[in-house]
Amino acid sequence: MKKIVFATNNANKLDEIRQILANKYEVLGLSDIGFNEEIPETGNTLKENASIKSQTIFRKFNIDCFSDDTGLEVNALNGKPGVYSARYAGKNATYSSNVDKLLDDMEGMNDRSAAFSTVISIIMDGKEYYFEGRIEGVITLTRNGVGGFGYDPIFKPNGYKETFAEMLPEIKNKISHRALATEKLVEFLVQRDYS
Ligand code: IMP
Repeated sequence: MKKIVFATNNANKLDEIRQILANKYEVLGLSDIGFNEEIPETGNTLKENASIKSQTIFRKFNIDCFSDDTGLEVNALNGKPGVYSARYAGKNATYSSNVDKLLDDMEGMNDRSAAFSTVISIIMDGKEYYFEGRIEGVITLTRNGVGGFGYDPIFKPNGYKETFAEMLPEIKNKISHRALATEKLVEFLVQRDYS
């Protein structure tokens, strides 16, 4: 079976993609290839950060690989936290402190529209391709739900009554930014294999 590296240390993301690509690709994580360093996310966009991660692995191991980067873009905050979503409340930010900061920053704001965006960069045979997944929604006034992670308790996708944190994981994982980007990636890999 063909091997591909997913440049992530996130076990949940690895499991998810392994299930999707089962029987098609053997998906290796960074620890499987003995890479235990942090890859600094120094880019100014999700695309740059995704690219930095896959380029780092490609240059070192010369192997097909992909990576992803995600951000929450709030319209009334000119797209913030965006590429800084993981560390919005500062260097030692937690999911909870990030949510608190966002709710504080949006206090009194009427336009609560926002979108989650995931960009995947993949390098196959030395050539780089990108895929984006995006879901529009609103930032709620308070936290709702205990599922998911990150900003899930305050993000309600358009057309749904619940936040991501109130949804069954099966539903979130079908409609989410990451699911949409991953779908495009899988379509690309499958088409490549059969063409
Ligand atoms: P990453 O690029 O996937 O590591 O995501 C960066 C940050 O965006 C995370 O630390 C979370 O705060 C947030 N984030 C990413 N994906 C989700 C999601 O599906 N729900 C809620 N927050 C997310």
